[in-house]
Amino acid sequence: MIEKELKTTIQIFDGINELPLSIQNLMKSAFEARDNAYAPYSKFKVGAALILDTGEVVTGNNQENASYPSGLCAERTAIYAAGANYPKAIIKAMAISATSEKHDVLEPIAPCGACRQAIAEYEQKQKQPIEIYFTGTAGKVIKVDALLDILPLAFNNKFL
Ligand code: THU
Repeated sequence: MIEKELKTTIQIFDGINELPLSIQNLMKSAFEARDNAYAPYSKFKVGAALILDTGEVVTGNNQENASYPSGLCAERTAIYAAGANYPKAIIKAMAISATSEKHDVLEPIAPCGACRQAIAEYEQKQKQPIEIYFTGTAGKVIKVDALLDILPLAFNNKFL
C-alpha cells in the first residue's frame, strides 16, 4: 500500500475589488444573473457568469421545478448555454455568486459536485483550464485556477 496526498491550492481575496477588472465585471454579471434566478422552492439563488476567449459573457442561474430533480443549477445552466451557443469558443473563467432569502450566505459558495463534473467536461473539451471564482455576500472571493483542482480523481472520457 502506498499513501498519496492530493494537494490543491485556492486563492482567497478579501473583496471583489482585489480581482482583475474583467473578473470584477464578470462577478457583477453573476450577481445580476443570481438576482434573476427562479428559485421559488429553495429561496437559494445562484448566478454564474462565464467569459469566453471572444470576450463574450454568458450567464445562467438556477431554474427550479415543482418536480424538484427537474431543476438545474446556475453553473450548468450557464455552461450549457455557452456550449450550445458558442461551441467553438474557449471558456476562460466562471464567476459564481449565491444568496438566500432564508439566511445570510456570507461565505463563498463552491459549485456542487454535479456542476464540477459538468464543468470538467468542458475543460477536457477545450483542453484548457477554466478559472473558477466564487463568493458569498461578505465580500470574500475564492479562486481556483482550474476546475480539476476541486475535483480530484475526476471521471473522464478516457475511461470510456
Ligand atoms: N444550486 C446551484 O445553482 N448551484 C450549486 O452549485 C448548488 C446549488 C441551486 C440548486 C437549487 O436550485 C438551489 O441551489 C438549492 O440547492
